[in-house]
Amino acid sequence: MTAEELIAEARAAAANAYAPYSRFRVGAVVVDAAGNHYTGANVENSAYGATICAEGSAISHAVSCGARRLDTVAVSCLDAGEADGGYPCGNCRQLMVEFGVRRVIVDTVDGPREHLLEELLPFGFKFE
Ligand code: THU
Repeated sequence: MTAEELIAEARAAAANAYAPYSRFRVGAVVVDAAGNHYTGANVENSAYGATICAEGSAISHAVSCGARRLDTVAVSCLDAGEADGGYPCGNCRQLMVEFGVRRVIVDTVDGPREHLLEELLPFGFKFE
């Protein structure tokens, strides 16, 4: 699947965001090593710290469906007006390390921007 197609899935997932506090709707899709897709959106809470990011939501979706080896995460918060793409937060980058994510695609006004997770989080923590 192309980066554009994955970003389209992430944008669609953002429609299910529960973001009454920030109004910042984020969507994500995870592709596992077998090619299965799992979407997620941010889920906010009135106790703000309990909020779940879109990427974390998509990763939890994948893992709770039995996936363990993840390949790609695509994320979009363009509808929230984040022109530079809204990169995954540090916590979500570490969630990606746990399940071996290789590639991260970020939606921007100039089109999808692709990165290796290694660039976004060098020296991520692993028990090994
Ligand atoms: N958010 C995400 O979903 N992903 C990120 O990587 C950063 C932030 C969400 C959390 C919250 O609902 C809103 O964006 C504003 O922080």
